[in-house]
Amino acid sequence: MKNNLRIGLFGFGCVGQGLYDVLHQNPGFKAEIVKIAIKDPNKTRTLPAEYFTVNKFDILDDINIDVIVELIDDYEEAFQIVQYALKQKKHVVTANKRMLAYYLPQLQKLQQENNVSLLYEASSCGSIPIIRQLEEYYDNDRLKEVRGIFNGTTNYMLTQTIEAGLSYQEALQIAQQKGFAESDPANDVEGFDAKFKAIIIAQHAFGITAKVQEVLNIGITTLSESDIRYAQEKNYRIKLVPTIQLINDTEVSIYVVPKFVEKSNPLYNVADEFNGIVLETQFSGLQFLFGKGAGGHPTGSAVLSDISALQYDYRYEYKKQNQGNNLNFTNHCSIKIYYRFPLSKEIKLPFSKIEEQYRNTTYGFIIGEINIETLINNKAEIIESGAIIIGFD
Ligand SMILES: NC(=O)c1ccc[n+]([C@@H]2O[C@H](COP(=O)([O-])OP(=O)(O)OC[C@H]3O[C@@H](n4cnc5c(N)ncnc54)[C@H](OP(=O)(O)O)[C@@H]3O)[C@@H](O)[C@H]2O)c1
Repeated sequence: MKNNLRIGLFGFGCVGQGLYDVLHQNPGFKAEIVKIAIKDPNKTRTLPAEYFTVNKFDILDDINIDVIVELIDDYEEAFQIVQYALKQKKHVVTANKRMLAYYLPQLQKLQQENNVSLLYEASSCGSIPIIRQLEEYYDNDRLKEVRGIFNGTTNYMLTQTIEAGLSYQEALQIAQQKGFAESDPANDVEGFDAKFKAIIIAQHAFGITAKVQEVLNIGITTLSESDIRYAQEKNYRIKLVPTIQLINDTEVSIYVVPKFVEKSNPLYNVADEFNGIVLETQFSGLQFLFGKGAGGHPTGSAVLSDISALQYDYRYEYKKQNQGNNLNFTNHCSIKIYYRFPLSKEIKLPFSKIEEQYRNTTYGFIIGEINIETLINNKAEIIESGAIIIGFD
């Protein structure tokens, strides 16, 4: 590809502006943002008006634009933009995990048919280069498990509630003030954002495709004082931990639940808005990646790294998928959980093994093993009742 890339940017919010700053603080970098598509023409911008357009085709149909960088917050519209761009044989860089979790197979096919690149390092754990590590470094080592802290907002909130003693609402309010949590934080606190990232990472770690609606996600919305007290008594911290795990020679499970994390675990000290990824492999053993998972500049930097990779024609090869390992996604496996429920609304869950039980006058908990499929089938009722599921890392 030619060296001086002409970029058409979609979105000039947190990450779009972050990318602009990072690009302009790299004077040697041979790329230029020539046009920016935004939604609201009346917002005050930090750049001259001639940069901006509200007509996406000003960018998509411009034959002088080589690369589309998609950084908008509407995943269905992003899917339309990215599909159109790939069909126009433009390379695409995106940070949109939700779009990728829903539509990666279609987009993969389109990039192959049109012989262009679709890169998305910033979509999963912000500035931590996990996708390229999985593609290029772990392609020949057999991964057993990838898990971690993939969502900075919930990690910030959990750090503030468990370590600094704030209430859930106080922690959420500060996370919103600091710009980590959106005004509608459901995606973060219900574990959807972490699930989207886990689905993308699972594709590169194990070559498996999982559908968003098939993957269990339980968030932190029903976390109570009694759960925090239990964690403190046992010297645990609570973290929202997406887990992607090889179950046997043919199956991989993916699930997102909060987990009790012991002091010796590398995730224990991942605080505030930081992310951490633990990889367990057959030959290299345990490895740990740590960094900023969100924010304009860290995420903009990951986007810039993808743009830079385009200059040497980099493309994901989906090596694990193409290695013929024939791994499939499954929910038919057991995990150890702590299930805390209000006595007045107890839902009887079919544990395969029970290790511990406790009841007082208002609530009870059971620690035991249960099938993930059972949790998926009962998830809505569990959350509705005010109960929580916490795993053990
Ligand atoms: N924030 C992070 O730390 C982070 C980290 C990793 C990944 N991401 C992902 O990066 C993407 C952008 O996130 P963000 O935090 O930068 O969002 P944001 O601050 O809410 O900004 C969104 C931008 O998209 C523009 N936009 C929305 N709909 C549009 C449309 N139909 N056409 C053109 N522009 C449109 C908005 O335009 P207006 O300015 O006119 O409103 C705004 O500039 C999302 O996919 C997000 O999941 C974010």
